[in-house]
Amino acid sequence: MRTSLPPHRSNKPRRTVSIVGTGSYVPERVLTNHDLEKMVDTSDQWIRTRTGIRERRIAKDDEATSDMATRASLAAMEQAKVAPEEIDLIIVATATPDHSFPATACFVQKKIGAINAACFDVSAACSGFLYALEIAQQFISTHVYNTVLIVGADKLSTITDWTDRNTCVLFGDGAGAALLRNRPDSHGVISTHMGSDGTFTDILMMPGGGTRCPITPENIHERLNTIHMAGKEVYKQAVTSMFNSATRALHDAGLRYEDIDCVIPHQANLRIIEAIADRMGLPMDKFYINLDRFGNTSAAAVAMALDEAHRTGRIQIGDYILLVVFGGGLTWASSVIQW
Ligand code: ACO
Repeated sequence: MRTSLPPHRSNKPRRTVSIVGTGSYVPERVLTNHDLEKMVDTSDQWIRTRTGIRERRIAKDDEATSDMATRASLAAMEQAKVAPEEIDLIIVATATPDHSFPATACFVQKKIGAINAACFDVSAACSGFLYALEIAQQFISTHVYNTVLIVGADKLSTITDWTDRNTCVLFGDGAGAALLRNRPDSHGVISTHMGSDGTFTDILMMPGGGTRCPITPENIHERLNTIHMAGKEVYKQAVTSMFNSATRALHDAGLRYEDIDCVIPHQANLRIIEAIADRMGLPMDKFYINLDRFGNTSAAAVAMALDEAHRTGRIQIGDYILLVVFGGGLTWASSVIQW
């Protein structure tokens, strides 16, 4: 039970919202491109040149999304020195929840002992972590909550068709987390832009498993319980919407591309990142990239990259960071943060 009430909505000026801690977790098991050569008709060279991916991590059978989310959350809490009872809200962004319900966030709550938190999940596929960031930002800046834990976590290996070379080479498992708070007289989130286009629902989806197409033995046979993707179309839309969204967020922040110290993009494909770098007129060394080691971990990807960039010192206090993501829906989002 809640032991203290959160502050009520008020007419006070909006507060700056800072990321006060980050954490991430990847499973131990490494699946390399060479391993995939033994599973489908592919080659390390094809995967590296078309995607930039060399290897990815695969969770154990008994390791669910909330288990990975919990490990990432505990790392963020330790770094931020935040006790579980201080957390007012937990938002987990995922396309692969432990169960349809209850929310994966509730399992994380139980495991970390955040007894005072409200919990829910966000469904925005790979864009979910920045959707969660914007929701958290709204709650904190308007004085509703003080401390919000956001997590991007996915176990895509459970919805990957391991016989389809078009998709199985792309994905991996993992989780990333961030704790957000108002830190008076500090830097923080400057602007966020979110967008969606539901006319493209069919180019990236898992057709089976929901109310439209409940799972039956027949449609499992047709692999409708796995990711279906029109790769080329997704690629085109990703480049356009990430660039447009980032440009809008930068405009709202009153900044130009050359002001940005580090871009942390969704880690789907190196060629998508190179294409947006080209449009932005930025050199590739401004981009933080770890997809070579982890592949596309969906909602976890940008959160894991942010944590790595933070822990390795790639981003420093005062730096301007641009986070930009893209995913099924289609959905996209960008955030400009002064670290
Ligand atoms: N190994 C070898 N050959 C392959 C493989 C593979 N793993 N996969 C496809 N091919 C073949 C195809 O069958 C095709 O052969 P064909 O010419 O004989 O028909 C050929 O390679 C070229 O295929 P394309 O689809 O044209 O390859 P492309 O250069 O477009 O690359 C890719 C495919 C990597 C999927 C690319 O389109 C892409 O990255 N799209 C975006 C995907 C993405 O980012 N998805 C996730 C975003 S959102 C989220 O994260 C959930």
